Amino acid sequence: NRTPLIAGNWKMNLDHLQAIAFVQKLAWNLSEAKHDFAAVEVAVFPPFTDLRSVQTLVSADKLPLAFGAQDVSEHVSGAYTGEISAAFLAQLECRYVIIGHSERRTLHGETDEQVAAKSAAALAHNIVPIICVGETAEDLEKHGPSAVPVAQLRAALAGVTGAADIVVAYEPVWAIGSGQAATPEQAEQVAAALRGVLAEVLGEDVAGKTRILYGGSVKSGNIAGFMREPNVDGALVGGASLDIAEFAAISRFQ
Ligand code: 13P
Repeated sequence: NRTPLIAGNWKMNLDHLQAIAFVQKLAWNLSEAKHDFAAVEVAVFPPFTDLRSVQTLVSADKLPLAFGAQDVSEHVSGAYTGEISAAFLAQLECRYVIIGHSERRTLHGETDEQVAAKSAAALAHNIVPIICVGETAEDLEKHGPSAVPVAQLRAALAGVTGAADIVVAYEPVWAIGSGQAATPEQAEQVAAALRGVLAEVLGEDVAGKTRILYGGSVKSGNIAGFMREPNVDGALVGGASLDIAEFAAISRFQ
């Protein structure tokens, strides 16, 4: 009952002109392969400066792709130089926004409290937050596999109430961009623990409906293993999402 989601986080790659060409080709590639978009949702996450172009293309050509932003401000509006509000993203028809990516947490000092506030800001504008959690190699050694992601999710859920539509992404920091993905069993173990937290805080019903993604060195060669796990409902793909054929193959789980 959970529609799988394959999400491409472009990070700081592809300008708005490159984005237009990329999204056109990706949609064409998937359509050629008869991709069933109702069965497997495919979403791209371009830089902020690309979003208007992507929105225009997607709406003009009625492309079946979803898109969203890589971050959002926790503030409504005002004197926050460099920030982008959830209202702006909603205006551009973003369905999703990635929140609390490990690169934001480590390079920009984003806290659990900010992740919760940003999630609340997104939900207030009917944008689905993709809440990212994940442990470092050091955390893994010290605290075991689930402790840090579970604590991060618990903290983030302070910004989520009731039957809100959210997505959780488990991205072990040691697996991001390293070429060393978690095993499907590792991903499943943490995803199951995260679903337990969702059940506890938001109820069984919401937990059963919420998609949990795995991210970290996902490629066409390893996606099938993750998708076979009962608690893994898709992937958040970095590097491999910048290669159209590769990302399309991941969307087919092959
Ligand atoms: P890679 O797929 O490049 O490891 O990146 C994962 C990621 O950070 C997606 O958000």
